[in-house]
Amino acid sequence: MPIIAPSLLAADFLNLQEACSMINRSEAEWFHLDVMDGRFVPNISFGLPVISSIKKATHKVFDVHLMIEEPEKFAQAFKAAGADILTVHVEACNHLNRNLEQIRSLNMKAGVALNPHTPISQIEEVLCDADLVCIMTVNPGFGGQKFITSMLSKIERLKNAIIRQNSKALIEIDGGVTLENAETIVKAGADILVAGSTVFNSADPEGVIVQLKNIH
Ligand code: DX5
Ligand code: ZN
Repeated sequence: MPIIAPSLLAADFLNLQEACSMINRSEAEWFHLDVMDGRFVPNISFGLPVISSIKKATHKVFDVHLMIEEPEKFAQAFKAAGADILTVHVEACNHLNRNLEQIRSLNMKAGVALNPHTPISQIEEVLCDADLVCIMTVNPGFGGQKFITSMLSKIERLKNAIIRQNSKALIEIDGGVTLENAETIVKAGADILVAGSTVFNSADPEGVIVQLKNIH
């Protein structure tokens, strides 16, 4: 059974309280929070004050996905805001090993994300230093995009590399996850499914979370 991480990006920002209540009632274990700086990605989302506010309204694991330049400058601040897992992009880190160590030293789980064009070889040397590897299956910056199907073999190759190295890193899939493709994604090796529009655009978000959860 995959861990489900609904993404706040697709929620109604006028009703964050309702989004938090729905997540609390649901079977989702994690809450995925997409932070964008308008530099690393061509969009700006939300940041520290929103995360620290919703932290008071939910008890799920806060899975913070930083799509920002120089993420090391903000690790401490995101810990203070309530992040349990902090994921940085390999493309934004000149010193990835140090960045992951910094996150762990702040008592958060450390994640590393790869854009669709970034080969797995870029993170092979840090697979045992990461708690999570996030494979972007859309180009980051926006919700509601189509899953890039060539990423399925990338998930399989990552899974093999993790097994080869005896790493404990979990595989998170982010972008374009639907009720139709979720099973194939889990079969390819995914441990965590991020789902934004599939959950929040549904008339029955909690029901969709149950359906995603029951995939194996
Ligand atoms: C994209 C974000 C995703 C996004 C997923 O840059 O990292 O987490 O919210 O949204 P959907 O599930 O709609 O593709
Ligand atoms: Zn994300």
